Amino acid sequence: LQTLPPVQLARKYFELFPEQRDPLWQNPCDDKRHKDIWSREKTCDHLPKFLIIGPQKTGTTALCLFLLMHPSVASSLPSPQTLEEVQFFNGNNYHKGLDWYMAFFPTPPNATTDFLFEKSASYFHSEDAPKRAASLVPKAKIITILVDPSDRAYSWYQHQRSHGDPAALRFDFHEVVTTGQQAPPDLLALQRTCLVPGWYAAHLERWLAYFAASQLLIIDGQQLRSSPAAVMDETQKFLGVTPHYNYSRALTFDPQKGFWCQLLDGGKTKCLGKSKGRKYPPMDSEVARGAPARRELALVTSRLRSPRRHYEPRSSRGPRRCGGRSRTQPYLMAVRPKLRTRPRDPCRLHGRPVSGLLRGRGLRDLVPRAGDLLLAFAFQSRTFLSSYYRDHNVELAKLLHRLGQPLPAWLRQELQKAR
Ligand code: A3P
Repeated sequence: LQTLPPVQLARKYFELFPEQRDPLWQNPCDDKRHKDIWSREKTCDHLPKFLIIGPQKTGTTALCLFLLMHPSVASSLPSPQTLEEVQFFNGNNYHKGLDWYMAFFPTPPNATTDFLFEKSASYFHSEDAPKRAASLVPKAKIITILVDPSDRAYSWYQHQRSHGDPAALRFDFHEVVTTGQQAPPDLLALQRTCLVPGWYAAHLERWLAYFAASQLLIIDGQQLRSSPAAVMDETQKFLGVTPHYNYSRALTFDPQKGFWCQLLDGGKTKCLGKSKGRKYPPMDSEVARGAPARRELALVTSRLRSPRRHYEPRSSRGPRRCGGRSRTQPYLMAVRPKLRTRPRDPCRLHGRPVSGLLRGRGLRDLVPRAGDLLLAFAFQSRTFLSSYYRDHNVELAKLLHRLGQPLPAWLRQELQKAR
């Protein structure tokens, strides 16, 4: 029988059993043998009773703010590295071990009735998080918030722009979501983080493989935004937290912020910071104004008498789809300032199909007689995304039906489009 010093022995062990290199932490207090050798200084009270798993940009921070108003609810402390989320179950932090994770939690005054929680919004779409969370906190409750995945993608894009992500600054939203595999790596990475978390059904199924449906609360993000008190009542019931906290009295709509905020003594409000509930143009406004061909538009419109009017999509006869059956086809918007001749077919210009012309050519080529006709191509990101998410949304509807949950309004609308 041979043996080695501990570190070498460990190395040898993992050479023999490489599949065991990846740890799967369990609650040390769930096993008497562990508990007996667990230091007296340590406690298993520093673990969450529920997790807010995301996805990002759905209102997770607002939910945290509201939950923290409850006297029996406390969250993990902010991470010194990311300043915000602990992000333990999804990435490499997991390898830092249990002590590292537990150190984020304060000691609750009453471990039985108090509710510690942690919010890491990238848990939602993580491959590893459900399995790892179920292993450490199998009885934890899981809260997720869903909004229209297209809006989520756009909100994320705006978030990345304001964080100075070079790809988000270089490319407009439509380019980000529609770009193909040949795109530069930073653009592809941004596209992934815009699109992938929105595969709601697939991600939820992974959580449901490890947690019972009764442990999962799916919040409608639109409702959280418009009627947070009702959502907070439902959330309190789901968690079983006491005493019942009256959010109708504790929250107020702040017209300046445009969102619901905490009502403080003296009538002041505590709202989330500037990075939550950002001000940015609505999706597709940039493309309606001709962003992909902005330079050409400027050239053409400079020769028009009242150019500004003609930029406005509302002053046109509305977007019209030209050519192709695909939902991803660009829209053609014909804006006709004092037309001498009305084109018979707005999808053709001087006898040439517009969608064909679009490829590789500027708008200037399309408008040889400026002043007659201004054409703006509105590549509609929303149309593209509706189509992109169609199958995912159908699966989500089936999943919610199976769970006996109502469909959020946005999902009903998307399903109608899919018919
Ligand atoms: P936008 O900034 O794009 O509007 P998260 O906290 O998960 O990152 O989500 C941020 C989003 O929460 C915001 O996205 C905003 O729309 C939404 N939200 C919902 N309720 C809110 C509230 N009371 N205050 C601020 N943002 C809220």
